Amino acid sequence: MSKPLKSARAAALSGTVRVPGDKSISHRALMFGALAVGESRVEGLLEGDDVLRTAAAMRALGAEVERLDDGTWVLHGRGVGGLMEPADLLDLGNSGTGARLMMGLVATHPFTTFFTGDASLRSRPMKRVAEPLARMGARFVTREGGRLPGAVVGTASPVPITYELPVASAQVKSAILLAGLNTPGITTVIEKEATRDHTELMLRNFGANVEVEHLEDGRRAISVTGFPELTGRRVVVPADPSSAAFPTVAALLVPGSDITLPGVGMNPLRTGLYQTLREMGAQIHFDNPREEGGEPVADLVLKASTLRGVDVPAARAPSMIDEYPVLAVAASFAIGTTRMFGLSELRVKESDRFAAVMRGLQACGVQVEEEGDTMIVHGNGNPPPGGATIAVNLDHRIAMSFLVMGMAAQAPVLVDDAEAIETSFPGFADLMNGLGARIEAV
Ligand code: S3P
Repeated sequence: MSKPLKSARAAALSGTVRVPGDKSISHRALMFGALAVGESRVEGLLEGDDVLRTAAAMRALGAEVERLDDGTWVLHGRGVGGLMEPADLLDLGNSGTGARLMMGLVATHPFTTFFTGDASLRSRPMKRVAEPLARMGARFVTREGGRLPGAVVGTASPVPITYELPVASAQVKSAILLAGLNTPGITTVIEKEATRDHTELMLRNFGANVEVEHLEDGRRAISVTGFPELTGRRVVVPADPSSAAFPTVAALLVPGSDITLPGVGMNPLRTGLYQTLREMGAQIHFDNPREEGGEPVADLVLKASTLRGVDVPAARAPSMIDEYPVLAVAASFAIGTTRMFGLSELRVKESDRFAAVMRGLQACGVQVEEEGDTMIVHGNGNPPPGGATIAVNLDHRIAMSFLVMGMAAQAPVLVDDAEAIETSFPGFADLMNGLGARIEAV
């Protein structure tokens, strides 16, 4: 059953709220805890559907995964190479990260794993992971175009590879590095543009030998040594900067707003949106910068701001790839033109986000243009008309972005099905309404 929501113009947003835990870090904490020997404890885990699917999958692969009443997750892992053949399909729901990283994990275990997901995940390209993992010795059987459902026939005698990523993707990088854990020798991934490095940071923290070499031409070579002894750890998950993006942009757009978001992850490979918004003139302060669980965090203080259009270079895309939909919403309130370059990867996310943003903004009366992989948004400094109904197509970030649009547009904005928000930001509407938003079921 679909869950339509309407978002109407809000009075000033105010207050302090903690957004849920980081999705990327949450998936990895569960996977690495399941591989480590001994006990791992994860605090602040994102309890959204994507991550809960990963928890269930790690159980199906033989790990003990338990949630305590205080919200701490406790894992007892199997040791590197110790995963067991799952008795049934692994259903990763909406989660590309869950599916792709897990394909890497099982590719170098000597059993067969069947994967599926929702209609969105079943439409997404898996060849990008199948291709390098096949070079390590795994076999893939998928639907046409490398799409799920599919099976990974893991190899008993994996070979290490050196692989240069054809697309900037932390998921593909991570899948190869995870396959490399149960592979003799050294497995290397070369990336032209740095993508989020949570896998590298957390694997090291669990005891793996992960080395990063900066090559002369700006590329980075990331290597993992096979058969490490991973041992159980405590992981503290910061608040997700990609989720914080929604209340952030809402506070900038709704006149008179002043909100605080404590403990938001500030890994420099994730903060492109905040840099861009500041260039647009946003009043964003990073209070109390500190390190928590090996990741930098800060308390974000956000005040309503007058924004100006900017050019966002393609090189910044990997550090804000999930934030373009909500940046495009911000740009439609700005004075002048915002040009976002290098957005090809936006077309293969939970939905074709490039097309969804273009359609949604047009329906809200915003002037937008598409030039190849560049999206151009023209703002005139006034709130756009709004008043549209947006097709979500199982994409959480499209739903949240257009609910933010409704908070400051002239007329309310409806999203046809907000259920997908549960994948990454459970409680989004209540949290925003607690700050003063007016989101309601229709
Ligand atoms: C993620 C990597 C990104 C991002 C996704 C999470 C990760 O995907 O869009 O939400 O946790 O590694 P790509 O690797 O496809 O860019």
